[in-house]
Amino acid sequence: MRAKITATGSYLPRKVLSNVDLEKIVDTNDEWIKQRTGIEMRHIAENESTSELAAKAAEDVLNKSALSSSNIELIIVATVTPDQPLPATALFVQNKIGAYNAFAFDINAACSGFVYALSIANAYIVSGMVKNAIVIGAETLSKITDWTDRSTCVIFGDGAGAVLLERTEEDKGILSVVLHADGRYTDLMMVPAPGSKMPCSKKAIENGDIYIKMKGNETFKMAIRSIASVSKEALDIAGMDFKDVDWMISHQANKRIIDGVARRVGLEGERSIITIDKHANTAAATIPLAMDWAVEMGKIKEGDIVLLNSFGASLTWSAAVVRW
Ligand code: COA
Repeated sequence: MRAKITATGSYLPRKVLSNVDLEKIVDTNDEWIKQRTGIEMRHIAENESTSELAAKAAEDVLNKSALSSSNIELIIVATVTPDQPLPATALFVQNKIGAYNAFAFDINAACSGFVYALSIANAYIVSGMVKNAIVIGAETLSKITDWTDRSTCVIFGDGAGAVLLERTEEDKGILSVVLHADGRYTDLMMVPAPGSKMPCSKKAIENGDIYIKMKGNETFKMAIRSIASVSKEALDIAGMDFKDVDWMISHQANKRIIDGVARRVGLEGERSIITIDKHANTAAATIPLAMDWAVEMGKIKEGDIVLLNSFGASLTWSAAVVRW
């Protein structure tokens, strides 16, 4: 028994912020952002919450599927920008799409969140506990971004991507998943408040502790090696090699990281899906957004081998091999 991705969907907020727009906000320029990150624009959720983005991506999935919301048995939302600390964003999504027969919860593995969530849904399906699941990566990172810090505010964007996983007896779907975490590096990327360590306070707000802090350079150095090695682990388990991969969908954090991984494993050029130029880094949403884009563009087709790999705070890294 396997869990197969039978539909993909996405949603991007209407507002677009270009690099040139950012030049008016912080001391940056279009050329630096394009050269150092590959980003040309990002979408910004002005009056929408993460669950609104997530629900629209889930609705897009359902519109492309034979199932209706009442058939859905599990909803997982991967996010670092939940609507509120309590309850889970997945419950707001459940209510918005009317999937009242599902159980629903959130997970936080930062930018690896989607692959982590996919692995959980896969385990529930393969064990026979559920027949299907909607897995969503959704973020409104603009709301935890310090718009005075040019080293972070040019990188992030908002959006949501989703997939429907269904039980199948065919040799298709998720062939392998590998997850890693290393809590020795929690200082590389964080949002210090509000939380139990630093509850909401005037001081936390004034110090900017409610925003993303990132040691970009150190994170960058660790990313390429980790993504390449976890990808090999996942391919080994699936009994495959990089030459068997039709498409690689990497977490879209920096085009130089994606290209570096692609060079290292021999998947350069057309076989590496790139959406960072239009979506920027949307954390848990980048992989499902890129996946839906690639499917809609007619790139990924039935039977293709798709390698997913990601790297996130602080630190999580993961990979999955999927036969479409
Ligand atoms: N515009 C113009 N100049 C900028 C800038 C901006 N937005 N941000 C930084 N700079 C400057 C720096 O001040 C520095 O100037 P200096 O040399 O005069 O001191 C110079 O550019 C280089 O800064 P640096 O931080 O070394 O840039 P970088 O090449 O490492 O790129 C990131 C920065 C954040 C794009 C890159 O490190 C990165 O992508 N890191 C990984 C992010 C990641 O994977 N996060 C975790 C998963 S989401």
